[in-house]
Amino acid sequence: MIEIHRNDSVDETPAEAPTPGFHVTVNKPKTRHLKQLIKTNGQSRTLLRFGAVVLVLSVLLSLISPLLIRRLVDQFRHGVDWRLLIAIGALMIGSTALAAWGNYLFSAAGLAIVQETQNQTLAKILAKPVAFFDQTPSGQLTSRLTNNLDQIKNYYTAGYPSLISGIVTIIGAVGMLVYMNGILTLLLVGALLIMYGLLSGLANQLGAPMDAFLDEAGHYTAGITEAFANIRLIKANTAEHQITAASQDQTAAMRREGLRVAKVMSRMQPIMSTILLLILGGTLAVGGYFVSTNRMTNGTLISFLVLVIQVANPMLNFSSYSASQKEADSAAKNLLAQLAAAGEDDSPKETKLLTTQLQHQPLALHQVSLDYGNGHGVHDLDLTLIPNQLYALVGPSGAGKSTLMAVLERFYTPTSGTLQVGDTPAACFALTAWRQHLAYVPQTSEVLSGTYRAYLQLAAPQASDADLNQALAAVQLTDFIASLPAGLDSQIAEAGTNMSGGQKQRLTIAQALLKKADIYLFDEITANLDADSEAIIRDLIRQLAATHTVLAAAHRLSSIRDADQVIVLENGRITGQGTPAELLTRNTTYARFVQEQSLT
Ligand SMILES: Nc1ncnc2c1ncn2[C@@H]1O[C@H](COP(=O)(O)OP(=O)(O)OP(=O)(O)O)[C@@H](O)[C@H]1O
Ligand SMILES: [Mg+2]
Repeated sequence: MIEIHRNDSVDETPAEAPTPGFHVTVNKPKTRHLKQLIKTNGQSRTLLRFGAVVLVLSVLLSLISPLLIRRLVDQFRHGVDWRLLIAIGALMIGSTALAAWGNYLFSAAGLAIVQETQNQTLAKILAKPVAFFDQTPSGQLTSRLTNNLDQIKNYYTAGYPSLISGIVTIIGAVGMLVYMNGILTLLLVGALLIMYGLLSGLANQLGAPMDAFLDEAGHYTAGITEAFANIRLIKANTAEHQITAASQDQTAAMRREGLRVAKVMSRMQPIMSTILLLILGGTLAVGGYFVSTNRMTNGTLISFLVLVIQVANPMLNFSSYSASQKEADSAAKNLLAQLAAAGEDDSPKETKLLTTQLQHQPLALHQVSLDYGNGHGVHDLDLTLIPNQLYALVGPSGAGKSTLMAVLERFYTPTSGTLQVGDTPAACFALTAWRQHLAYVPQTSEVLSGTYRAYLQLAAPQASDADLNQALAAVQLTDFIASLPAGLDSQIAEAGTNMSGGQKQRLTIAQALLKKADIYLFDEITANLDADSEAIIRDLIRQLAATHTVLAAAHRLSSIRDADQVIVLENGRITGQGTPAELLTRNTTYARFVQEQSLT
C-alpha cells in the first residue's frame, strides 16, 4: 500500500527526523514508534513474544473445534459421539485458558513498558532546563504524560492481543472455510471486506476529535491543578466562579469533541450488528440452499456458521484495533520526543577541582547577559565574588536580583558572556556537581510536602539527627519542631500550608545550612521575619561569610547592614558596587534607599 501524507510534526525524535514536506511511504509500519519504545525493554519483548505464541496456540485450538463439530453433527443420526463431545469441550476449555494466559502476558508486557517509560520520562522531564517549566503548565504536562502512558497500556493490554489473535483467526478460519465451501467463502469474504472498509472509514474520523479532546483535557487539568494549589488566593478574591467559568470553555470543548467521537462510535455498533446479522442470515440462506440440494451436509453448515462467527468478530473489531494502534503509536511518538529532548547539559566534566576552586578562587561574571526572551533579565554584568565575603544585592523590584542568582545557579544559560571560577568557565563543570557546591534559598518560601526530616535531608541525605537539630537551632526552629506531635517525623502539608511564612523560610535556610556548600545564595530570606528573628539570621549570615562566599538579596537594608560589599542592580544592570559607606556617597539609589529606611 502506498500512502502519501504530509509531515510537519515538530516533536519528531531527532534520530529519525524526516525532512519536512510531502513523503511517499511504502508499507510503513504504523508501529514504528512503539517498536522504538520497547526496543530497550528486554523483559517486555520476551513477554510479548511468549504471549503471541500462547495466543496463536489458543486460536489454533479454537479453530479445530468447528471441524469436530461438523463430524459430531453429521453423526447425530447414529447417536451422540460422547468422546467427540468431550474432545470439543476440552478444546474449548484449553483454548480459553490459553487465551486468558496470553492476554495476561500481554498485560504484563504493557505494564513493564509503561513502568520503564514512566521512570525514564520522569527522569528526562526533571532534567529539562528551568525555561521549559517556565513555558509548560505543570498540570498540562502531567495530563499529557498520563494520557500517553494510558494509551500505550490499553493497546498492549487489549488492542494488541486482539489484533494478533484476530489475524491468526482470520487466516486460519478463511482457509478452513475455503476447504468447506469455496463459493460461500467468497461471498462471505466479500461482505466482510465491505464491512471492514465501512468501519475503518468511520474509525479514521476518530483521530482528530480524540486529539482535540486530549488537548482540551490537558488545559482543563492544568487550570484546575493550579486552582487547587492556590485555593487561598482564589477564596480571598472570591474568584471561585471565575475558575469555574474559565474551565467551562474547556469542559464545553471536551463535550463537543466527545460528541464528535460519540457520533462516530454510536454509528459503529449498530452498523456492526446489522452487518453481522446480514452475514449470518445470508450464510444460512445460501448454506440452507446448498444443504437442501445435497451439496453440503448439516454438519458443514453448522461448523461453517461457527467459523463465520469466529471470523466476523475480529473483522468487525479490526478498525478499532487499528485505531488503538494508531493512538498508541502517536503516544509513543510523543513520549519518545520527550525522551529525546535535550536536558540540561550534564555530561561528565571536571568535578574534582570544583571544591578547591570554589573555596579559594573568585566566582566571576564577565559581560553576562540573560534575556528571558521578553527583553527582561540582566545585562552586561561584570562582577567578582571573592571567597569568604558577604555580598549584599540591592535594587528595586524587578531589577534582576533573582535573575542574577538564577544565573549563578546555572538555571539558565546566559545569552552572552561567561560565568567562571578563577580562570575556568563554569560550563566546564557538570551541572549537578556545580549545584552541589551552591546552597540557594529562593525568594518564595517553597517547601515540599513530606516529613520535616525528609525535607531537611533533601540536599544532605546523610545528615544525622544531631546535624538536623543544630541547623534547626541556628534558625530558631527547635521549639517549633519540638511542639509538633511527631517532632521531625511530623508531616509538612502541600506547599507548607501548615506553617507560617517565616517558619517556611527558616526551615529552608536550615536545609541550606545542612548542605555544607561553598557558596550561599539567599534571596530575600528575611522578608517574612520579625526584627528579633531577622537579627538572628543576620548574625548567622555574618558567621557563614567568615568561611564561605555569601550573596544575599534584600529590600530591608537592616538585614544586610554588615555586608562587606553592596551591589546595586537597576534595570538589569549593576549601577554601583562598594562598601556600604562608600556607596552612600557614590550611588544615589542606594543613598535614597538608606534614607527612606532611615538607616544611618
Ligand atoms: N522566568 C521569567 N520569564 C520572563 N521574565 C522574567 C522571568 N523571571 C523574571 N522575569 C523578568 O525579569 C526581570 C527581573 O526579574 P527578577 O525576578 O530578577 O527581579 P528582582 O530584582 O528579583 O525583583 P524582586 O525584588 O521583585 O524580587 C523582571 O522584569 C521580570 O519580569
Ligand atoms: Mg527577586
